[in-house]
Amino acid sequence: MKKVLVIHGPNLDLLGKREPKVYGRVTLKSINSGLKKIAKAHKASLTIKQSNHEGEIVDLITGAGKRFEALLINPAAYTHTSVAIRDAIAATGILTVEVHLSNIHAREEFRHKSLISPVSHGTILGFGAQSYYLGLEAILELI
Ligand code: DQA
Repeated sequence: MKKVLVIHGPNLDLLGKREPKVYGRVTLKSINSGLKKIAKAHKASLTIKQSNHEGEIVDLITGAGKRFEALLINPAAYTHTSVAIRDAIAATGILTVEVHLSNIHAREEFRHKSLISPVSHGTILGFGAQSYYLGLEAILELI
């Protein structure tokens, strides 16, 4: 069975209430249930985590190497700042797909750079919850 770890970074627990003009009204719960449906249809197993803490995300990634074949991650604000998360992905060598709800290139300049993209197989952004679903479909094809 294909095993995928999903990590939602900081503040994504607030989706639905958080900046709806940018992120829409979709909740994390509904994104997760959409992901679970896709996984079920592919007979894949998903473990889903959300964390507001950089070190915790690093630990999840370094612990994922042996237990999971791939990582679907929305690093949220850490996308633009976290050398530690980038290094954890590089060190683990885990197949990684980066996703974003919004088009980070159409937003403030500080969001234009992702430290995670260079260590990811690919990045999907700007499609709201669909970014996650497309990312998971891509991962399940790649594994
Ligand atoms: C985000 C984009 C980031 O710039 C931001 O900090 C987030 C969410 C997105 O999914 O569009 O928290 O990763």
